[in-house]
Amino acid sequence: MPDDWRSEGFVSHYNRLYGPGRAEVAAYLARLRLVPGDVFVDFGCGQGDMLAVAAETVQTVVGVDVSPQQLALARERLEGRSGARLIESAFLDFRWDGEPFTKGAARKALHHLDDQQKGEFLRQVAPHFAPGALFILEDGVFDFDRAELEARMPAVLEEAAVYYQDAWEAKRKDFVECLRHEFPTGRNAWEGAFAGAGFEIVDRWQASSFYGGLLARKTP
Ligand SMILES: C[S@@+](CC[C@H](N)C(=O)[O-])C[C@H]1O[C@@H](n2cnc3c(N)ncnc32)[C@H](O)[C@@H]1O
Repeated sequence: MPDDWRSEGFVSHYNRLYGPGRAEVAAYLARLRLVPGDVFVDFGCGQGDMLAVAAETVQTVVGVDVSPQQLALARERLEGRSGARLIESAFLDFRWDGEPFTKGAARKALHHLDDQQKGEFLRQVAPHFAPGALFILEDGVFDFDRAELEARMPAVLEEAAVYYQDAWEAKRKDFVECLRHEFPTGRNAWEGAFAGAGFEIVDRWQASSFYGGLLARKTP
């Protein structure tokens, strides 16, 4: 849904309601064990929350996003960081001519691609990752197959109300829209897309039945 992400109103609605706090970002990035010499890329970098924290450790950080509004916010966050590069691009159009990435991330972003496109995107970017490079994904990772979503929906909504607590009423509409009309999917489909692009899964976690993550390593 790139059109929404080009709307000022939608972007500020998203960032206000869903922008991650520093502790959440630090916990997420910790799994990548960033070091100063890394070449770090964040796909769907949004307003630059991950990039700003990564840039405290890493010299070269690259943010990719389709939204000029998000990239303008990220640019402000990264002001003065000479090794930061922001690229306005849709995932499937992304091209890279720089050094191989040693660490990669995509948080709440690749569910904008359907399952076939997830595989296509990962196959396209895989050659730009060094052997042994780590890639972290956190997103709508279901602990069931997407085909079961409608049958599971009542239980998922009940769980989400507890998961989001006081914020649930404000998030409910977006949550249902995302599950039904965007492309969060089952863990098997996510892991299959990474495996098909030459990544092995080295860690996985599930925060709820509808949100989880994985850590993948690029094989030689
Ligand atoms: C839900 S936000 C997540 C932002 C950030 N990663 C976070 O965790 O808060 C999704 C981001 O992906 C970007 N995006 C959506 N579709 C995209 C596409 N097809 N290509 C590139 N970026 C896209 C949006 O502009 C937005 O900044």
